[in-house]
Amino acid sequence: MTAPFTIAVDGPAASGKGTISKAVAAHFGFAHLDTGLLYRVVGAKTLIGIEPIAAALALQADDLSAENLRTPEVAQAASKVAVIAEVRAALVDFQRAFARRAGGAVLDGRDIGTVICPQAEAKLFVTASAENRAHRRWLELVETGHDVTLQEVLVDVKARDERDMNRALAPLKPAEGAVQIDTSEMSIADAISAAIVAVSARRLPL
Ligand code: CDP
Repeated sequence: MTAPFTIAVDGPAASGKGTISKAVAAHFGFAHLDTGLLYRVVGAKTLIGIEPIAAALALQADDLSAENLRTPEVAQAASKVAVIAEVRAALVDFQRAFARRAGGAVLDGRDIGTVICPQAEAKLFVTASAENRAHRRWLELVETGHDVTLQEVLVDVKARDERDMNRALAPLKPAEGAVQIDTSEMSIADAISAAIVAVSARRLPL
């Protein structure tokens, strides 16, 4: 097993950071954690009446594979619970332990390079225009059988951007030293290549 190596990938809603993170993890043989799922699990629990801090404290790794975490409704609930200090605090240890596992880890989210892993060996900030992001997310949702309009997805993306960037705790912003990748005009393959190049630059010399 190789030593820990953390790749922190942050960016706004549906910027492509999940796709890029998965591909980067596969390329380097690292584990991948979509930290948005933690907030989605907590958000989903609030939609069935569970109190958010209790839901965050009770979170188990198995919860991350629950169904229906990808809907815009759950995304909105996630970004609402994500402003609560106790919710964020309850999720820190899980993320940090994952980040420092032997063999390397890629974590994607909003505050990975700024708060969870400020010492990450490599940091990326993935962006794209709100219209591009909404269009991609809409295609994903429709392809997976969700009944949602492009306009509804655009409203969700913009509302979450606004909340995520302006909250007092761990607001979404590029971490110091993060390499920015604007995927608006890039193919998926080009965005993945750009990310791999940026990370490789941080892995040399060994
Ligand atoms: O996939 P998408 O980019 O649309 O969202 P996500 O990464 O699943 O995150 C859902 C929500 O969780 C975000 O809008 C944030 O409010 C929150 N989140 C956060 O606050 N911190 C993170 N590290 C990850 C997600």
